Order: sequence, then structure tokens, then C-alpha cells
Amino acid sequence: SIPARVADLLKRMTLEEKVGQMTQPAVLNMQGDCQWSGGALVESCEKHILTDLKAGSVLSGGGETPPQNTPKDWADMVNAVQKYAIDHSRLHIPIVYGVDAVHGHNNVLGATKFPQQVGVGATWDAQLAEQMGESTSRAVKATGPQWDFAPVEDISRDTRWGRYYETYSEDPYLAGSLGAATIQGLQKTGQVAGTVKHFAGYSAPFSGHDRTEAHIDQRELQDTFLPAYKAAVDAGALTLMANSGSINGIPAHASHYLLTDLLRHQWGFKGVVVSDWQDVENLQTAYHLTDSYAGAAAIAVNAGVDMAMIQPGSVDGFVNGLISDVKSGKVSKRRIDEAVSRILTLKFKLGLFDHPYVDASQADGIVLGADKDLAVQAATESQTLLKNDGNVLPLSTGLGKVVVTGPSADSIPNQDGGWTIGWQGIPDGVNDPGVTIYQGIKNVIGDHAKLVKDAGDAVDQTKDADAAVVVVGEKPGAEGTNDNETPELAADQQKLVDDLQATGKPVIVVVVAGRPLALGGAADAKQLLMSWLPGSEGGTAVANVLFGKANPSGRLPVSWPKVAGDEPMFYQQLAGTNSGTSSSYDPLFGFGAGLSYTSYTVNDVSVSGGRTVKVSVKVANTGSRDGDMVVPVFAQQPVSRILVPPNRLVAYTRVPLKAGQSTTVSLSFPLSRLAVTQGDINGSSTRSVVPGQYKIVAGGKSADLTVH
Ligand code: IFM
Repeated sequence: SIPARVADLLKRMTLEEKVGQMTQPAVLNMQGDCQWSGGALVESCEKHILTDLKAGSVLSGGGETPPQNTPKDWADMVNAVQKYAIDHSRLHIPIVYGVDAVHGHNNVLGATKFPQQVGVGATWDAQLAEQMGESTSRAVKATGPQWDFAPVEDISRDTRWGRYYETYSEDPYLAGSLGAATIQGLQKTGQVAGTVKHFAGYSAPFSGHDRTEAHIDQRELQDTFLPAYKAAVDAGALTLMANSGSINGIPAHASHYLLTDLLRHQWGFKGVVVSDWQDVENLQTAYHLTDSYAGAAAIAVNAGVDMAMIQPGSVDGFVNGLISDVKSGKVSKRRIDEAVSRILTLKFKLGLFDHPYVDASQADGIVLGADKDLAVQAATESQTLLKNDGNVLPLSTGLGKVVVTGPSADSIPNQDGGWTIGWQGIPDGVNDPGVTIYQGIKNVIGDHAKLVKDAGDAVDQTKDADAAVVVVGEKPGAEGTNDNETPELAADQQKLVDDLQATGKPVIVVVVAGRPLALGGAADAKQLLMSWLPGSEGGTAVANVLFGKANPSGRLPVSWPKVAGDEPMFYQQLAGTNSGTSSSYDPLFGFGAGLSYTSYTVNDVSVSGGRTVKVSVKVANTGSRDGDMVVPVFAQQPVSRILVPPNRLVAYTRVPLKAGQSTTVSLSFPLSRLAVTQGDINGSSTRSVVPGQYKIVAGGKSADLTVH
């Protein structure tokens, strides 16, 4: 059995071997100059990391790839690292290799790139999220790694924050259910581990700047931020990554409350907690909680970190520091054994002791261009139509001339976003295959699509065109570069939209961005499609929607602010007493917004049940096109002694409906989903369901639910 095999190994391991298992250096430590250069593996560097320091895990973060970056190259590299670790260690323990495959196997040239997470949020399709997880794990495993640092279960809160696009939704239940489904998909074969990250509250830095302080009171933490992580933990996530930032004055990596009391004792998490990049040493060098690396290691490990992810140049410090902590009694041997047994258990579960290598000759065949149909489906389901005045869309495929313009009209890097080939997105000069929006349109209407790159020319050419498609948005980026104090559409892009509209021709504005950018004048667009960061097949999806081959069905998983600075903006804002309104929630487009080319109705909402609440809703497609209808179900409390959000999503489903078809859908949710944290501002924090009258609302229709 696994516990017996773990116990047997533990008994035979030295302290140095145990601490090695808790160490996760970047592969950069073993390439080129053993520092940051990358390149081919170098024997002397491998020896230092794997034999001398006995590292138990290795990672390729966003941009750390083998030289040619093909799937086979990856498999060869990971196999080589694995072989070195097994052959040159006393107990022949395999390593577990981690990557950030956050929208498909985004690290690898030629691998299909799915939409980024916020686009997956817009699909409201948990089954699809599971399929993408499964596809990603197939690609990851084929190239060698067995650990994927995904999904992000942080809640979308503030569009200034540069990693906003990596979140699913502002809604705890939507984010949690999509993350849980992703975990199930990723881990389905049992050969790849998923990671719930970044625990907890990473998405809520006060300043909008990544990795700065967050202040989250108990109620906000329990009701808004924790449920999504918990959903993914409950789905069986094998690992979890801590938040790099501080919450309420305590760095998450130093929080015994978060990493042990809550995660282990209350939630029963049994897996491995890994630090984020360099965040153990950061307890010394950034947070100054201690004046030594050894001190930092003791704080993190005692708080509950099992494995440290470490940058080049810092690995020796962690290993030596933690060994000295154990010798001096600052960290108990028991705590080390606990962490190491979790890591070894993970390796046994993943089958690494029995099958440590992959067949590199298969990698290209499995990965290159795989699951494109799934990527097209996901990108298509994520397309969120926000305006369609006069039903100008869908466009006819018989149009004579369509001008396609804007900075993201013909740009794979822009539509793929960050964490694609490079950490910050596809580096200049690198070509990764995909279908741009212009190419997608051209595939539908051929040479009637005219790509015009210059703004002035585009306006001129639109004057004698049948329509213009202008693709605006933002450039790729990730942590470190992508925070934006004024998250709005760039002025020159707003002007391009204005000038095109002044021609009087139909102008379709397509936004390719990882966040709802304040649109300024472009908010007057008559046709507006939010495409998110749709990935490598995004062009096909956008064209399908523009020309009616697909009926748009995405719904906003986040609220869209009118102006930059209207932050935070989320639909669960509590009532206030300001200006006679009961709520300050006043977005440009609200949570759940999204149009279709057909029309739907909702009728006959009924509710029954006790601990599990059953909701049945009659839905109909009353228009003339087939479509997928997203049905969100909200709970309201018309009167509540405790201040609660005006609406809370409690269930949702996506129903395919043929034109003219109607059906009754059944949904259910545990009564506990209605729980709120109660207590006065003194910090007491019981979480329970407030007895009383509830309204269960779908599509504006409601039924009453009494909770005793
Ligand atoms: O997994 C990531 C994390 O999301 C951000 N810091 C680096 C890690 C590894 O690349």
C-alpha cells in the first residue's frame, strides 16, 4: 500500500534527503550557466541540484523550456532530468516535475492554446472546463511533467490587477465550480496533479498591484474568497500553492491559520502545499520577518509549506537553512516527516515510482495541434455579445467588402495573452500557430475580408465597405508588467472606433482583453463582442459568431465598470444609503450579461426541498435560431436581519435549445450555499443560513423558499 511504501522510505532517509524532497528548483538551475541563461542541460549543474542538494522536484515556470521547445524536446528534457535524479541518488526516488499549463499546455510550441481562465468563466460550462482539464493533462503528461500549477481559484475583484485574466469569475460559486471541474479533468487519469492557487486572497491586493498587501475581513474571506478554493480542494486537488502576498498584515506563506488550521484541520486537505516562486526566502528578503534564510524556512515550514519553489541562486540557502533549523530544533523532525510523506505519497499516487519516464517518440503526435475542436468550442462558448443594436449581427456571408482592422485583428500573441510560450506571452520573433481573427473571417468570406493595419487607411476603406470589424484590446502580460492603474481602452483605439463609426457603416467592435476595460467613447459602439483572450483557435470562434455559424452564448462572469477607477465592481455589493439608491452597483454591463441571436423565455420557476434545494425552471427558445441558453439561478432575501448581497448565484446550467424548443430543467443546490457569516464587527464569525423567506430567481421569474 502507499502508506506502507512511504513509511518504508521515510525510515531509510537521511535528514538531507528529506529536506531535498521539500525543494523545488527551477530547471534553469540545471541549464546553461546554472543560473538564468536557459539552454541545454549541463551535467555539473544537474549534479549540484539533484545529487548534492537532492532536490525532489523541478519546475519549468512560464518561460523555462528546452532549447527547441517542441513536445519531443520537452519529453527528452524531463526524461533526462528524471534519469539523472533516479540514477544519481542513493534511494532512486523519482522527481515530480511541475509546469504552468494554465490554458492548455501553453508552454509548448505547437500545442493548442485554450481560452484564458476568464474566458472559461464566460462559458458557464463546467463540463467543458473538465474536458479542457483532461486535454491539458494529456498534453502535459506526454511531454514529461506530472504536475500542473492550475487552476487559479482567486476571485476576480479589481481590473487594475495584472492577473485578473487568470481568474474565472467574481462569483464564488461560478469560480469554484469551474475550478473543481478543471481539477477533476486534470486529475482524471491519475497521472497528473492539479494545483489550487493562490491560497488565499491573492486577487485582492489593496493597491491593485500584484503581491502587495490585502485586507480581507473574516466575513469577506469566508463568504467570498474561500469557497472557490474549498470547492477545488473538495474536488480532490492533490496540491495547493500559497499566495505570495500578505493578508491582514500576515504573509500567507507565514500564516499557520491559513495553511494549517483552516486548510488541514477544518478542510481536511491531505495534499502537498507548495510555495510560490521564491516566497520562502521572501519572508526574509521582502517581508523582513526574520534576518536569515534559515529563519524564513522555519517560519514557512512551521506555518504549513511542504515544498519550496526556488529561483536560481537560492536553492542552497533553503536546503542548508532548513537542515540547520532541524538541527537547532526550530523545525521538528515530525513536521519534516509530515511534509515528506505528503510529497512521497503524491509521487506514489502519480505512479512515478513504477513509470517515471514517458515515451518521447509519442510526444509530438499526442500534442501538436491536439484537441483543436475543443479549443474552438471553448472559445466560441466564451464569446460574449454585449451590444447588437438593430440586429446587425450576424453578418451575411455574402457581403462584398469587410474591413478588418485594429491592433488585435491579426495577432496570435494578443489573443493568447500571458503564459503562452513565454511567461509574459509569446516573445517577439516567435511564431506559435493559431487562427487570428482576420484569418478566421477570411476562412468564412475569403478575399472579401480586407486586413487594413493603418488606422487612417482603415477609416478610408470603410467608407466604401459593407462593414468594418475593429479588434481592439490589450497586449499580453503577466505578473510584474500587467498591472494597470487605469484599465481602459487605449485612447488611440477609442479614436479608431469613433472614426470608423463616423463613416456610418456598420462597425463591429471586438474586444480582445483579459479584463473588462473601461471603453470610453467605444462604449457607444452599436455592436460589441467581448472575446476575452480566446487562445490559438480564437479567430475561428470569433468568425463563427460574427457570421452566424455559431449563436453567441457567453455571459459575463464579471461586472463591467463604466470608467476606470470604478473599482472594485462586483454584483454582490451590499446595499448602502448613498443618493437614495439602495446599492452602488452601477456597471456598464452587469454580471451575467450576454446577448444571443435568438430569444429565450423563463417560466414556471418552482422550488422544493430541505437540505438540498431543488429548482425547476421551464425555459424556451422562442426565436428562429438554435442556441445554448445559460440559466443562472440567484437567491435573494427581501428582508434580512443580516446585511446580505442583493443577489447570490446558487446554481446555473447551460441548456442547448433548438429554435422553438422548450424544456424543463432541474437544478439543485445544498441549502448551505445560502450561508453567510454572521457576527458584529468585533470579528466573531459564525457561518450559517439565516432563517427566513428567500426568493429563488431565474430570468426575472421567482419562487419562494422558506428556511426555518
Ligand atoms: O505557478 C506560478 C504562479 O502562479 C506565479 N509565480 C510563479 C509560479 C510558477 O511559475
